[in-house]
Amino acid sequence: MANQQQGSSGQNTMEKLVSLAKRRGFVFQSSEVYGGLNGCWDYGPLGVELKRNVKEAWYQSVVRDRDDIVPLDCSILMNRAVWQASGHEDCFTDPMVDCRGCKRRYRADRVRMHYLVLDGRAVWHHGYEGEHADAFEQMSKSVRKSYDHALGEHKAQLESGAATELDCVVSEVPEGFPRVCPECGGELTEARMFNLMFKTFVGPSEDSASMTYLRPETAQGIFANFLNVLNSSRIKVPFGIAQMGKSFRNEITPRNFTFRTREFEQMEIEFFCKPGTDDEWYRHWVAERKRWYASLGMREENLRFREHTAEEMAHYARACTDVEYRFPFGWGELEGIANRTDFDLKAHAEHSGKDLSYFDDETKERYVPFVIEPSAGADRSVLAFFCDAYSEDEAPDEKGNLQPRTVLKFHPKLAPIKVAVFPLVKKDGMPEKARGIYDAVRRRMAAFYDEKGAVGRRYRRQDEAGTPYCVTVDSQTLQDDTVTVRDRDAMTQERIASAGVLDYLQDKLAL
Ligand code: GAP
Repeated sequence: MANQQQGSSGQNTMEKLVSLAKRRGFVFQSSEVYGGLNGCWDYGPLGVELKRNVKEAWYQSVVRDRDDIVPLDCSILMNRAVWQASGHEDCFTDPMVDCRGCKRRYRADRVRMHYLVLDGRAVWHHGYEGEHADAFEQMSKSVRKSYDHALGEHKAQLESGAATELDCVVSEVPEGFPRVCPECGGELTEARMFNLMFKTFVGPSEDSASMTYLRPETAQGIFANFLNVLNSSRIKVPFGIAQMGKSFRNEITPRNFTFRTREFEQMEIEFFCKPGTDDEWYRHWVAERKRWYASLGMREENLRFREHTAEEMAHYARACTDVEYRFPFGWGELEGIANRTDFDLKAHAEHSGKDLSYFDDETKERYVPFVIEPSAGADRSVLAFFCDAYSEDEAPDEKGNLQPRTVLKFHPKLAPIKVAVFPLVKKDGMPEKARGIYDAVRRRMAAFYDEKGAVGRRYRRQDEAGTPYCVTVDSQTLQDDTVTVRDRDAMTQERIASAGVLDYLQDKLAL
């Protein structure tokens, strides 16, 4: 699946995005003054607002807009038994391989090899990182040159079928074929399993009795509280429990900015339903999540819903769809929607000795509910909305000459700042008037006041922050009490009464 943004231009776009994120205070490297900490990022002032808006939009859609989902907020530290029952202690592992040369470590299922094969021998090979074979298209110019050369050399054999191409993950490489490091070309070791959970100790002693883990997902806290929620909220199956919160995974290869990190936030729903209705609820959630991403303006061509093949599916799952976004570095998962059957409740019932079945008052039936789990990443959604909003065009400067402009075209609900208010110049009472408007709107929506520099430059700064509207007080304001409202995307200006600014914005932003 070719992506025009991928490869080196994708890398350029990503570099621009990371630089913009830092420059404008969306995302900073964690503990940067000490050289950073791999796989950890901090949200700056604009990033906090953006992430809050994404989480708020999720909460609104899955809790407030429905009458069948209740919220929960569990502790990050839980009894170790939770992770033994869920299977995480034994099975939450990734296969890893090491490079014998440069000592880099990779996830074995994310390192792939591409070969040209002739007479059972690899006559050309290349190691690269990527989840799917389509990542091969991101190869660098020098690899591309060498590949094209090899294709040319074996053109006739390839056409006759005597030579073939093979692309596979490193763990499936045929006996005798080279398995090489994507970075330095060194030899890779055999795959070994590595548990992703961060261990910690509760209390002063550091023995196995006090050992537990930082949660690697919020979902298990929901299962562990199934009875508490059921008995305290009078809710009936079908119903869901929603939770947002931090999760921690000691990822082997954190990468792609905030895409794969060691500390991240999830937005998860466990939706409990009667066995037999699970297929219908699964389809409902796939459609519902599709609607959510579209409602926040995510571009259709950048979103795909990929159903898992039987081989990809977890052993307990009956169906699973990954929601994927086309990032500049390639397609990446934003959310998984899975039919987890009754696996989790049964596992916790067995390990805890508690009856986690449900009694249906109306039909007098007792059963263990099935679970549909739409599990999304807050940070990945933020990154996807950030990439989707990024745009480059041209805007006129003070003299009317077109200048390149960077603009974040966020959906108004997600925009970190909804409106900026400016006095055209810092005199004639304009700052006082503009401050008055700013004070009136800032308690209702995120607003920003700026009086420094040329107004064109102030507009461009707000374009970079993704602010949908800028209100300017000018000399005409002093005569007829009107202001201009500039639209970020159309760059048009409208003149309205200053008393009507709040109503105008509330109407336009549909807050
Ligand atoms: N309870 C199911 C579960 O945790 P998952 O696919 O492992 O499923 C769900 O995680 C979502 O959490 C992913 O789709 C992704 O958005 C987010 N996520 C997982 N690992 C992440 C990481 N290392 N960094 C950022 N987000 C991550």
